[in-house]
Amino acid sequence: MTIYIHGFGSSGQGGKAIQLREYFKSINEPFIAPSLSYVPELAVATLEELIDSYEKEKVTLIGSSLGGYYTIYLAEKYGVKAVLINPAIESSKTLKRAVDLKGVAKNYYDGSSFSWNASHLEMLKGYAVSEVKCGEYLLLLQKGDDILDYKEAVAKIPNAMMVIEEGGTHPFEGVERHFEKIRTFFALNGTMVNRHLGKLGTDGFSLVLFGTKVSDSKEFCKMVNQESITKAWFFASKVHKEQLYPGDKLPYLTHLGNVMMEVMSVQHSIENAELAIVCAILHDTIEDTMVSYSELEKEFGEAVAKGVMALSKDETLSTKSEQMLDSLERIVQEPKAVWVVKMADRVANLGKPPHYWKASKVKAYQDEARLILEKLGLANRLMAERLAEKIEQYKKYIGT
Ligand code: NI
Repeated sequence: MTIYIHGFGSSGQGGKAIQLREYFKSINEPFIAPSLSYVPELAVATLEELIDSYEKEKVTLIGSSLGGYYTIYLAEKYGVKAVLINPAIESSKTLKRAVDLKGVAKNYYDGSSFSWNASHLEMLKGYAVSEVKCGEYLLLLQKGDDILDYKEAVAKIPNAMMVIEEGGTHPFEGVERHFEKIRTFFALNGTMVNRHLGKLGTDGFSLVLFGTKVSDSKEFCKMVNQESITKAWFFASKVHKEQLYPGDKLPYLTHLGNVMMEVMSVQHSIENAELAIVCAILHDTIEDTMVSYSELEKEFGEAVAKGVMALSKDETLSTKSEQMLDSLERIVQEPKAVWVVKMADRVANLGKPPHYWKASKVKAYQDEARLILEKLGLANRLMAERLAEKIEQYKKYIGT
């Protein structure tokens, strides 16, 4: 159950509540956005009662503005995952302004007023968290927030996964662009540790920082069966035999080896490294050769066949961008090992573009790479870092 906690003067019928409700409905996940009392103690009591009632179910929280403040308190109390959208960190200070304005605040739902006074500020202080320890956080921040300073949130929860965007406003413009990221964050296992990806592109709208999972940095002592890898390599050598890599006229196997090496360079951080390596070798067999899904399934098993299938474009879709979005949607249904292959494939393809590519195509290719990172980056920090770096370097091929 995901609970959305609205901000000051807002309600469960506010803009973000409505957007989130629709999104969670579309993915068939339980969601509730209760309309809370403006009295802090009543609001928190309602939320605690609600969370307690889902005792056996996993609860996740999303809080915006003042709702973000309550969310931190509750995430620490219950040790749950939480997404904070331009959250209030020092709410008793921020909302002192409302007391100063004659103690009357507006309810955005119907335009009515409510009294907001010093006793409410005292109540807020009761929910202050001195140090975050138990919750796991994804921060969505916009620097253009004119009410709250995003830096306070970064300072409060430096270990969080973060998306920090240039511009924007306090309500967070275009928050729906991050709904899938929220879903991925809730689905990830493992504890976040303090490790940031660094910035992605200085030319774009958003500056994205990823946190990472402990499991990304720990060594997975997984057995990789070398026989399976060798078998895949010979299989690919045979079926791609006549194919050349566009541009350089090198054997296509050069590309497959390149993607495989990228995957192997981070294999210690992949939960099923063998699946990733085998899928890397076979990733273009369905798309580019006569090999069928059932043949792959027979030779390499269901997980590999499904992985390669997801990595293959559906060429019946009319545009390239539809094909890419469709493939990404299918990839995220597969284990994280398959996500890594898609990122590695793009890393391998972000070398010098073929001379016959127009400038617009080169730019579109970089944009597409950003989309891949955006959708799949959370699966593996090391590969996400590598892809971010390649995207940055690719700039030199884009004419000014
Ligand atoms: Ni490829």
